Amino acid sequence: MRIAVIGPGAVGGTVAAWLAQAHDVQLCARTPLTALHVETPDGPIAARPSVVTDPTDATPADWVIVATKTYDAEATARWFPALLGADTRVAVFQNGVEHVARFAPWIDAARIVPAIVDIPAERIAPGRMLQRRNGSILLPARGAELVPLFAHTPIAVSVAPDFTTAAWLKLCLNCAGAVNALIQKPAGIATDDGVATVKRTLVAECVAVGRAEGAVLDDDLPELVVRGYRAADPDSINSLHADRLAGRPMEIDARNGVIVRLGAHHGIQTPTNATIVALLQAV
Ligand SMILES: NC(=O)c1ccc[n+]([C@@H]2O[C@H](COP(=O)([O-])OP(=O)(O)OC[C@H]3O[C@@H](n4cnc5c(N)ncnc54)[C@H](OP(=O)(O)O)[C@@H]3O)[C@@H](O)[C@H]2O)c1
Repeated sequence: MRIAVIGPGAVGGTVAAWLAQAHDVQLCARTPLTALHVETPDGPIAARPSVVTDPTDATPADWVIVATKTYDAEATARWFPALLGADTRVAVFQNGVEHVARFAPWIDAARIVPAIVDIPAERIAPGRMLQRRNGSILLPARGAELVPLFAHTPIAVSVAPDFTTAAWLKLCLNCAGAVNALIQKPAGIATDDGVATVKRTLVAECVAVGRAEGAVLDDDLPELVVRGYRAADPDSINSLHADRLAGRPMEIDARNGVIVRLGAHHGIQTPTNATIVALLQAV
């Protein structure tokens, strides 16, 4: 199986290293690297996949895994002409609920498989990753052919019974993280009643829009999300917050902007998400 991974960062580098233990992997990188080293929960693994940094040098793959950030879609698409053969499928390992829509301008939507990735990982240096948990990847039924590619790994890859609901559940959790990025305080600030109220409101708007999109979401989700933040390591920092601290762009549109855009489409008011998007875009 020929697998190309675009974006060998925290998620892409970790997934590519695992896949390279059993498959032919081509790394499509922006920053050059020679090898992958991942500190996994089961010990270190390493791989030396072929690396290409010029999209015109890439060769066709059976599967392409996109693991760039959501805001890098246009640059990511420059890899598609060389990577896509007649039967190539493209799995999008990104946050949010718009995996297909994001790449539909360049690829037939029927070829795109969205994935919900829950693999907490960090990039220490180019090619060096820390994988904090084995984690999981959820796919829709049409992504079932991806499952056996991970059979040799400890990552739990499966088909979700209701992918739309699973994707919106993750968005409900992620959208509340914008508060931490805005006020630059780690998870523990959720014990503050005012902060918790803002988080509940962000999630309640997400629930309303998610339901309009077909997700089955319980009324108590806003409270459950706040409890999750309160139970987390008080010093933990979500990726939006980490990106802001590092001066990188943030996935604010994929995590909160989408709630505002789809809310407007369905005639649902989302003033709190709109406010936080405006403020984070301004900083
Ligand atoms: N990290 C996590 O724990 C985690 C967990 C679940 C989901 N996610 C989601 O997974 C996605 C990827 O996140 P991440 O944390 O892995 O991001 P990341 O560490 O920043 O990795 C992104 C990678 O994409 C590369 N890239 C950007 N533009 C490119 C281009 N045109 N061609 C080739 N490579 C390009 C970057 O290159 P450079 O090396 O030049 O920067 C970087 O290696 C995001 O949507 C994120 O929300 C992340």
